[in-house]
Amino acid sequence: PSSAVGISPLEPGRYLNYETQIQTLLDITKTDNRPLTLSEKLLYSHLIGTEKGEWSLKDIKRGSTILQLRPDRVACHDATATMALLQFVSAGLPRVAVPTTVHSDHLIVAEKGAESDLLRALGDHREVYEFLSSAAKRYGIGFHKPGSGIIHVIIFENYAFPGGLIIGTDSHTPNAGGMAMLGIGVGGSDAVDSMAGMPWELQCPKVVGVRLTGKLSGWTSSKDIICKLAGILTASGGKGKIIEFFGPGTKTLGATAMATVCNMSAEVGSTSCIFPYSEPMRRYLTFTKRADISQAADKVKNVLLTADPGSENYYDDIIEINLDILEPHINGPFTPDLSHPLSEFKQTVRENEWPQNISHSMVGSCTNSSYQDLLKVRNLVRQAKNAGLFKVRTPFMVTPGSEQIRATTEAEGILQELRDAGATVLSNSCGPCVGQWDRTDVDAKQREPNSVVSSYNRNFAGRHDSNPATHSFVTSPELVTAFAYSGKLGFNPVTDSIPSSGSSNVFQFSPPESLELPQQFTSGEDLFQPALADGSSLSVSINPRSDRLQLLKPFTAWQPGQAMDMEVLIKVKGKCTTDHISPAGPWYNYRGHLENISNNMLIAATNAFLHSEGSSNIGHTRNPITGRVDIVPTVARALRDVGRRWCIIGDSNYGEGSSREHAALEPRFLGGTVVIAKSFARIHETNLKKQGMLPMTFDDPATYDRIEEGDKVSVLGVEDSEMMPSKPVTMRVARVDGGIWEAQLNHSYHSGQIEWLRDGSALNHIKNRFLS
Ligand code: F3S
Repeated sequence: PSSAVGISPLEPGRYLNYETQIQTLLDITKTDNRPLTLSEKLLYSHLIGTEKGEWSLKDIKRGSTILQLRPDRVACHDATATMALLQFVSAGLPRVAVPTTVHSDHLIVAEKGAESDLLRALGDHREVYEFLSSAAKRYGIGFHKPGSGIIHVIIFENYAFPGGLIIGTDSHTPNAGGMAMLGIGVGGSDAVDSMAGMPWELQCPKVVGVRLTGKLSGWTSSKDIICKLAGILTASGGKGKIIEFFGPGTKTLGATAMATVCNMSAEVGSTSCIFPYSEPMRRYLTFTKRADISQAADKVKNVLLTADPGSENYYDDIIEINLDILEPHINGPFTPDLSHPLSEFKQTVRENEWPQNISHSMVGSCTNSSYQDLLKVRNLVRQAKNAGLFKVRTPFMVTPGSEQIRATTEAEGILQELRDAGATVLSNSCGPCVGQWDRTDVDAKQREPNSVVSSYNRNFAGRHDSNPATHSFVTSPELVTAFAYSGKLGFNPVTDSIPSSGSSNVFQFSPPESLELPQQFTSGEDLFQPALADGSSLSVSINPRSDRLQLLKPFTAWQPGQAMDMEVLIKVKGKCTTDHISPAGPWYNYRGHLENISNNMLIAATNAFLHSEGSSNIGHTRNPITGRVDIVPTVARALRDVGRRWCIIGDSNYGEGSSREHAALEPRFLGGTVVIAKSFARIHETNLKKQGMLPMTFDDPATYDRIEEGDKVSVLGVEDSEMMPSKPVTMRVARVDGGIWEAQLNHSYHSGQIEWLRDGSALNHIKNRFLS
């Protein structure tokens, strides 16, 4: 039985449970049997209560039913774990109920290179690392120390198993889909629910099937599958859906290549992304010391780890991608769904007058930092060297995804060859991918226009370097490397040559060759602190004078009238990601200190009310008390301190991007009550609900245009007895000139979530239930 097979070499004493998963599927299909998609198998086999007959397939409606699930594990990174663990501490529970890990990857700033950057981080963030380490010991959590690697890569190497369900406080958690494990990004409070042993709730997603045919060749890589798909689906097109790959093309990709695709599926806002269990996954498990898992998986492949024959008829939508004809793609700038085939890119760059000179080339991030990726980079570096091109033309930063990849590529001489060609090898962490970059070559304050190319996944304005004029393009590691040699955005390695000192004076790259896996992995330095069997005698201390860590005070319960006569703090115009609501970069330092980090609320958002006032419309708003324009958090605080209620008006897909719960905590902390938007990104909408904010959507999106500066907004129908699931509510707007108008708003609360609202937050609700 699978129950004799350990779940991870890092977690002795925990076992697979395929038999229970299969029984769960049998239980729910007793009365209604039909072919199941793979996503359905993995989701439904984690349902709670099936043995009591609480679930039946015919009652589950995709897009509406709220599933109650038990994930196999929870993962948090250092930037989200701080707040998640502070919440867990304040819930007063003895120990996590679900295997949980914390990963130290987001706080390390890229500056000079791995060794010095890591030393700097250990000094700068000592207090936070000590808090995370001590809380991990106290509550039975595995802790991956700084330098160990990027969360999703570590999960993939050590914990991902076919058939599993992982939730992570990071939007790229779907990375695990490359191992046929369903990975779903959540906010910290969702993670806390699961860590506390509460059911984790998810609105049953729809399923988009993507049929892959053919085989990749030449310059095309798995990154191009997702770059192409992002262009088809757009940044919000995956919302509420799982992307499920099927078809013969799925068997042609290596496990880490599939992880690349699943990882970047976050950029279309999808719930998750999954590949069926296949031979390459089996190989990867064997190479990472988990052959026993692959043997157990082989036995349940058809029943649990692949879609049933005929399930194609049950996809909500089907997209076809033929890998034989798929072109390399480059996506950007400023949004990952602006997708350009390589053959058209030169022309597009020219037409849009994007900066031609590339200021930095970067290979890495959780998306593309595998052994296979770095080997491709080396192959191109060697080709260049053989042609007399000894150095790259742009600054070139390379990030191994984990200590295992670093040690392996170091042992094989790969990293040294990259350094010899001019690359700076960064520590095994996120770095510039998330704005942790001490960049000095361009002036961010002066908004100096420049172009960067990376193998990362996300390219919102200011994402890497806080400079909104940095044009960031994402593509495959091989194209990034070719760009690093040409230095020009208009370069096409398929057709163009570059000057060299070789015999013909020009040189053209051949498509890179690589191997899926090394002869064997080298483990490198052991940077793992295992979960303790019993840490109950240990304490977690926080210095009350710290400006980085602050114990949380519970939010107050719902007050009748809380949504009446609200000022409109800001009317956000256009794209408003969680990076706009709570920017990253230097603000990471305050992720564990709600009062301090709240000073960044919406400072990158555009205010439609101040549109004619130049740059001051970004992050600024007019204080309704004084009439003066100030930064948004200052105005919010001023309103809160005099007891004036306020709301936010948002545009489409408000809160897209990451699972950053600070984007929901901050408005709540600063006295906000409601966010009314044309639409919300899934994770952010749930995060707002969890923190006791009211997310509402305009029934008619055109209502957004009617809101004017100085309006006072009341939301009617949200008090105790009035608010019900699926029941619309009314927005009443009092204009400055005395006029009053009304419009319909909708919400997506189910009855359990309304209890969060009443108790003031989901955490208050857990505590109330636990203590009673
Ligand atoms: Fe880190 Fe960037 Fe991935 S922030 S987790 S490397 S998306």
